Amino acid sequence: MKFFIDTANLSEIQTAHDLGILDGVTTNPSLMAKEGISGKNNIYSHYKAICDIVSGDVSAEVISTDLEGMIREAEELVEIAPNIVIKIPMTEDGLKAIKKLSDEGIKTNCTLIFNAGQALLAAKAGATYVSPFLGRLDDIGHDGLELVSQITTIYRNYNIETEVLAASIRHTTHLLECAEIGADVATCPLKVFLQMLKHPLTDIGLAQFLADHKKMNG
Ligand code: E4P
Repeated sequence: MKFFIDTANLSEIQTAHDLGILDGVTTNPSLMAKEGISGKNNIYSHYKAICDIVSGDVSAEVISTDLEGMIREAEELVEIAPNIVIKIPMTEDGLKAIKKLSDEGIKTNCTLIFNAGQALLAAKAGATYVSPFLGRLDDIGHDGLELVSQITTIYRNYNIETEVLAASIRHTTHLLECAEIGADVATCPLKVFLQMLKHPLTDIGLAQFLADHKKMNG
């Protein structure tokens, strides 16, 4: 399973990278805004800074909603670095853009997926990744993990190459259940990775080992 970090914060990306567990990054316009990044030049420089830290896939989202605009942005974004993946929303024009970009060999991540039909369409169009937002489904009383499972099963039934990128992950249980389901990628905030490495018995055990060593060795 690949681990992506879901942030535009450079220090968090560096921290996850330094842990040695990072396979890629996902961003979105809200995450860029959270970092106070605005203006095309600044946004593109920020993507460049992310790609300088991480060699794995980095999703950069288009903000155009029409086909032409999406393609124009995608062509500019792929010039930033070879590991840029174009993140495109699941809309009619988005689907057409995914098809066109995939025909040109440009990697895409179809975002804002909330049902399996959308995921199947994105795969048919040739998306590299499909991003079901499981936490946002849970937020409205639906079962986000069930969606991840349904998409994974459908893709396996037909040997579909599009990778299931479980997104909007809120906690370690989400991540571990996605791993059990067999999702290809999980994108998470840094805190989920940090939570996952902690266990109180690890801390207690380590303190005991060090205390016993000190007792005997001073
Ligand atoms: C995915 O690529 C999105 O950036 C992200 O996972 C959305 O998560 P949120 O629901 O926490 O905003």
